[in-house]
Amino acid sequence: MPADTPRSNPTSSAPLLVVQDLCVSFPSRGRMIPIVEHVSFTLGERDILGLVGESGSGKSVTAMALMGLIDSPGVQITGSALFRGQELVGLPQKQLRRLRGREIAMIFQDPMTAFTPVYTIGWQIDEQIRAHERLSRKQARARTVSLLAEMGVPDPARTADRYPHQLSGGLRQRAMIAMALSCNPSLLIADEPTTALDVTVQAQILELIRSLRSTYGSSVLLITHDMGVVAETCDTTLVLYSGRVAETGPTEALFAHPGHPYTAALLASIPPLDGPRPHRLPAIAGAPPAPLERPAGCAFAPRCTYVHASCLPAPPPPLVPTGSDTMIVQRTVTDTSSLESVDPTDQTRPCTTTHNTLTEQSFSETTISRPTQLSACVLPAEGTPLPPGLKNTVPAPGEAVTTTQILSPPTSSASGGPQL
Ligand SMILES: Nc1ncnc2c1ncn2[C@@H]1O[C@H](COP(=O)(O)OP(=O)(O)O)[C@@H](O)[C@H]1O
Ligand code: SF4
Ligand SMILES: [Mg+2]
Repeated sequence: MPADTPRSNPTSSAPLLVVQDLCVSFPSRGRMIPIVEHVSFTLGERDILGLVGESGSGKSVTAMALMGLIDSPGVQITGSALFRGQELVGLPQKQLRRLRGREIAMIFQDPMTAFTPVYTIGWQIDEQIRAHERLSRKQARARTVSLLAEMGVPDPARTADRYPHQLSGGLRQRAMIAMALSCNPSLLIADEPTTALDVTVQAQILELIRSLRSTYGSSVLLITHDMGVVAETCDTTLVLYSGRVAETGPTEALFAHPGHPYTAALLASIPPLDGPRPHRLPAIAGAPPAPLERPAGCAFAPRCTYVHASCLPAPPPPLVPTGSDTMIVQRTVTDTSSLESVDPTDQTRPCTTTHNTLTEQSFSETTISRPTQLSACVLPAEGTPLPPGLKNTVPAPGEAVTTTQILSPPTSSASGGPQL
C-alpha cells in the first residue's frame, strides 16, 4: 500500500480532467503551423485513457501542453484543459510548477532523460519529495525506499543508493514511476512508458500502471502507439491522426466496432493471438502528412480506401456519434407546485416520498441518446467515386475490400500490435 492515502476523491463524480478544443501551433517560416487541432477528451477519476497514434501525430505535444512544458518561442496554445476545475491553459509557470509533481506527474519513454546521471536515484526521489513536503532527509528516504518496494524494486534500500546507469531499463522505469508517484499525484501522464522495454518487462510495467488506480487513486493518461497496449490497459481510447481526433470511445466498444477507417486499419494490423497466423498482416500504405502538408479536409484521405469527394473540403469532418449509443431518459419536473414540502432534516423519510406525490403531468420526459463513441468519419456509400488525384491504396489489383471486411472486429486484442 502507498505511504499516504490518495488525495483523489473516489466518491466525486466530476471528471478529473476535461480537455476541450486544445490546439497547439508552432511558428515556422513566418506562419503558424497547427500541430494539435481541436483535441477534446474527458478523463474520469481513476480512469485510464489511452492516447494512441502514429509517430508524429501530436501525442507528446498534447501531453506537454497539458503539463505546461512547451517552452518553444512563439508557441500558441488555445482551448481549455480543466484539471479539477482549474484551467491549465495559460496558467502561470509558478502555479504550474506547484501542480507538477504534486498533482500531475509525467513519466517518459526513456527514464535516463528524467534522472540526472550524477546523483543516485534515491537522492533524486528524496529531493522530489522534499520539494513538495516538509520532511527530513531521513523521513524522505524512508518514503523513497517504501515507494521503490511498492514498485517491485528488489532490495530497495540498496537500489536507492545506485546511479541510474547501474540499473536495468525495467528497474529504471520502476524507479521513475516511484519518483512520479512520490507525492501521490491525482493524474499520471505516461508517455510511451514501455516502448524501450522488452515484452516481459513491458507486461510488468503495464500491470503496475493498472494497479495505480486502486493503490494510489490515480488516473492515467497513457500515451502509446501500440493498440495491443491500449486493449490491455485502457478504459477509454482516443485515436489521434495527424494532430486531430479520428475516433474516441470506450475501449471495448471501439475495438468491437471501429467507426473510423483508420482505427479499423490499425486494429486489422494486430497479429491474432489464436487461429491461423496470416501470411502478411494488413499494413496501412503511405505515411501521415507532415504538419505543413496536412490537408484542409480529412487528413487520412490520401491513405483511405473509402476516400470520396466529400472527404476533402475544409474544415475537417466533425466528430459524430458512432457505435452503439446509450439511451437515457431525462425527466424534468414541469410543475413544481405539485411538489410536497419536505423537511430536509427529516432523515426518516425515504427520498421517494416526494416523487410519489407528483402527478404524471408534472414530468416532461425526453429520451436522448448519449453517444459513447465518436468518430470523425461517416463512411460514404460504397462505390462512390474518388476525387481526381487520389487512389485507393489498400486493395491489391482485382481484390475488392468491402466495408464489412475492413470494419470486422479484430480476432485478438493482444499486445505486440503494430509498431507505428
Ligand atoms: N517544439 C516544436 N517545434 C516545432 N514542431 C514540433 C515541436 N515539438 C514537436 N513538433 C512537431 O510536432 C509533431 C508532433 O510531435 P509529437 O507530439 O512529438 O509526436 P508523437 O505523436 O510521436 O508524440 C511532429 O511533427 C513534430 O516534429
Ligand atoms: S472515408 Fe473520407 S472522411 Fe472517412 S477516413 Fe476516409 S477519407 Fe477520411
Ligand atoms: Mg511522442
